[in-house]
Amino acid sequence: MAKIIMYPGEAKKDAIDWKEVQGQHITAVRRNILVLGSGGREHALAWKLAQGEGAQVFIAPGNAGTAQVGVNVNIKPSDFEAVKDFCLKQEINLVVVGPEQPLVDGIVDFIKGDAELRGVKIIGPDKRGAQLEGSKAFAKDFMEKYGVPTAKCFKVNKDNLSEGIKFLEGVKAPYVLKADGLAAGKGVLILNDMQEAKDELVKMLDGKFGAASATVVIEEFLKGIEVSVFVLTDGEHYVLLPEAKDYKRIGDGDQGLNTGGMGAVSPVPFCTPDFLNRVEERIVKPTLKGLKAEGIDYKGFIFLGLMNDGGDPYVIEYNVRMGDPETEAVMTRIEGDFADMLFACADGRLNEVHYAKSEKTAVTVMLVSGGYPEAYKKGMIMSGLDNLKDVVAFHAGTAFDANKNVVTAGGRVIAVTAHGDSIEEARGIAYREVEKIHFEGINFRHDIGLDLMRLQ
Ligand code: AMP
Ligand code: GLY
Repeated sequence: MAKIIMYPGEAKKDAIDWKEVQGQHITAVRRNILVLGSGGREHALAWKLAQGEGAQVFIAPGNAGTAQVGVNVNIKPSDFEAVKDFCLKQEINLVVVGPEQPLVDGIVDFIKGDAELRGVKIIGPDKRGAQLEGSKAFAKDFMEKYGVPTAKCFKVNKDNLSEGIKFLEGVKAPYVLKADGLAAGKGVLILNDMQEAKDELVKMLDGKFGAASATVVIEEFLKGIEVSVFVLTDGEHYVLLPEAKDYKRIGDGDQGLNTGGMGAVSPVPFCTPDFLNRVEERIVKPTLKGLKAEGIDYKGFIFLGLMNDGGDPYVIEYNVRMGDPETEAVMTRIEGDFADMLFACADGRLNEVHYAKSEKTAVTVMLVSGGYPEAYKKGMIMSGLDNLKDVVAFHAGTAFDANKNVVTAGGRVIAVTAHGDSIEEARGIAYREVEKIHFEGINFRHDIGLDLMRLQ
């Protein structure tokens, strides 16, 4: 970490943070943090990290929103050599990886294995650990081996198709088919009709999702309500970050196509201390024990996609990163210096940090482009962003045009997060402010949090 010691009267040009105590300039710590990614999740991470003492945040490649809290760097997260060059040039102390792909592709192994990057810490699992998300078959084997509650499953490929069909015939509808590998969030099919399930299974094995569906996991359908629980671990210690509920379908009342996420609420009323205690005992602890037993060095986020079936948690999926749009709610409820927490995590000292969550409820509404999650237009000029009050607007898919206007640049465009003492209050503020934002084709769900209000 670049430590800058300043003395009275001394001006050091690269000092970005210093404190004056009783007339004396004292030791200041500069922390250069590189966040990889360009969505709402990365804006929320960068926003929170930038509030850390002495933190200077860079975002690669970022968006029009991240430019307000740090410096955007025109580097693709998949270009590891360019990431390395930037880390060296900018004396980066910590890299925080937003999306899963660079983790699955081994960015942690790359950085940890490079002698020139010895001083650079990184948040995220290595390539083996990232298989928890990168391969559903790996994740299911892992859960079975370490006794983590999850749906019963069968792994099928072209060589054991007839056994796969037999398993399918033995489970009740709806039928859950999952591509083993990463398929841009589209690799899960849930079908009511047995014949359709069999046909889709064959199509998947024939390359419907490319190599990602050469193996398919057939799963029993889990009943219940979903919740996203986030764990930050240094491999030895862990903290439970605020949990959140995501709204995945495009339409009100959970109708229509699946999306990357249309909104989030945190905390989730049914996540009582008792439920979270079950999550820790039945899922978090066995998971960390398993990672250790497998010799996997895991310093980063574990996102547990859970089903709550009458108070009993089951793992639907592991992700090895934070959720989007959950992060846009979760980050606003973490109190204290999140940069400190991540440095401590990377150093294996997570037990030393003090961590608290705000008691407030956060409601996040995602504004999307008309047509999303199918074809949509880009480059629509956005207005109203400067008039927002009492909310944080995290940019998900925005850019600047040649005239420095903020324009849409993705399907999910901007996430508006409001707070209140109840879901009702936070929803009221969020939707009041959403009305101020305009761009051609704007679309959003009107019912974020409504289902949970009934449980409050
Ligand atoms: P995944 O990509 O694994 O998150 O799956 C996408 C969505 O499919 C999940 O968020 C759930 O809503 C649903 N899903 C996946 N697996 C199951 C299951 N075994 N039972 C019920 N729903 C599931
Ligand atoms: N919101 C779900 C995800 O990030 O995968």
